[in-house]
Amino acid sequence: MNIDILLGLQWGDEGKGKIVDAISPGYDIIARFQGGPNAGHSLEFNNVKHVLHLIPSGIFHPEKINIIGNGVVIDPAVFKKEIETLGLPVDELIKRLIISARANLILPGHRILDAASEHSKGYLKIGSTLKGIGPAYTDKVARNGLRVGEILNKNFRELYDAHLKSHLETLRNYDFTFDIKEYEAGWFEGIEMLRKFRILNTEYLINDLTSKGKKLLAEGAQGTMLDVDFGSYPFVTSSNTISAGACTGLGISPKRIGEVFGIFKAYCTRVGSGPFPTELNDPTGATLREIGHEFGATTGRPRRCGWLDLPALKYAIMINGVTQLFMTKSDVLSGFENIMICTAYLSKGKVCPEIPFDNSPVEPEYIKMPGWKTDITAIREFSKLPDNLKSYIKFIEDQTGIPVTMVSVGPDREETIFRK
Ligand code: GDP
Ligand code: IMO
Ligand code: MG
Repeated sequence: MNIDILLGLQWGDEGKGKIVDAISPGYDIIARFQGGPNAGHSLEFNNVKHVLHLIPSGIFHPEKINIIGNGVVIDPAVFKKEIETLGLPVDELIKRLIISARANLILPGHRILDAASEHSKGYLKIGSTLKGIGPAYTDKVARNGLRVGEILNKNFRELYDAHLKSHLETLRNYDFTFDIKEYEAGWFEGIEMLRKFRILNTEYLINDLTSKGKKLLAEGAQGTMLDVDFGSYPFVTSSNTISAGACTGLGISPKRIGEVFGIFKAYCTRVGSGPFPTELNDPTGATLREIGHEFGATTGRPRRCGWLDLPALKYAIMINGVTQLFMTKSDVLSGFENIMICTAYLSKGKVCPEIPFDNSPVEPEYIKMPGWKTDITAIREFSKLPDNLKSYIKFIEDQTGIPVTMVSVGPDREETIFRK
């Protein structure tokens, strides 16, 4: 088995970018399989922080192949900006990055439709990142999408115009003012940038290389609780963020999957609307936000913060078939007198054994664990972590039955403890 998956088990922003970058040396190929520029994956080394939206988080390692898979939706304007601000020469990036011809494009009309749809929903809005994700996947599934491979066709402009016409017709149903021209210029410049890259049937490349022994890491975006099928629908994103999404989003068989690394924060955060049972609308939540710098990497919005939610974590482990747990942001909990963990959901005083499909309200039941006061950011060996943190990890392992094999103690690549 030489294909592993790393994905988020909560509501996104678990630290996927940092860890993918940290473990990339062990792989030959790093591939994104779903989502699009709604993702904001941060990684840090040499005191510089980088935030990636479309490009896989293995891009800073020379000699690695990075693939944007067929399951991703690509906004050319965002792509161009990302390429130009990465700090690496475009010629070098052309060597490192390959794009699937089957990936769907996010068109200017999709972005406007996303905004118009959210505007029309009022207080029921999803809190989307407004990157056009929902409308782009809608067109894909409705078989109306425009795909990256098509940008190489001579009649691409004609195809684009037909899609634009259809989007403008749909937009007439909304009471929403917009200026599409303003956005179109940058979008077509992005198309020119995309044309410089290798656009391939990446499913062949992936299967060929991995069957010859090359190792692939599939990098998830968002998190399990934002999955379109298993998340808190409708307050979700529009793709399958779970391990199954790596098969459809790259063209690989489930039989080829080895490890499923499930990444979670030592507490919880969520951006956008939707249920969040352990949310803390109090000074403790504000402290978590402040110490954890919990502001969106894509939109800058403050993230909602709360304690670790074990019912949701166990559910995510089940859906994904997680084989190893990676815990991030452990350092953010240093200094708390006590730390709470939600061990069950209660509904009308009774334990709710399953996550309700309809988001019906639940009360979290907590246990209290003692905190630790020491700064852990300089620790690099598991055995040297404070005993109370080790007990916290042991409790999570006992409850989930899955080992925590990596503990992250800071945003830098180096601030990572792999358990032997
Ligand atoms: P992603 O979307 O899962 O890649 O996560 P984001 O990059 O959106 O959010 C995670 C944030 O936490 C980023 O600002 C990271 O630099 C930061 N981060 C990652 N791991 C750690 C950690 O262990 N400790 C601290 N303090 N910050 C971390
Ligand atoms: P990464 O990969 C956190 C949330 C949005 C909104 C909902 C739908 O950085 O973990 P969308 O724009 O996808 O239609 O928004 O999903 N969301 C994320 N939250 N991290 C992300 O990505 C997210 N991508 C989307 O806030 O609630
Ligand atoms: Mg993020």
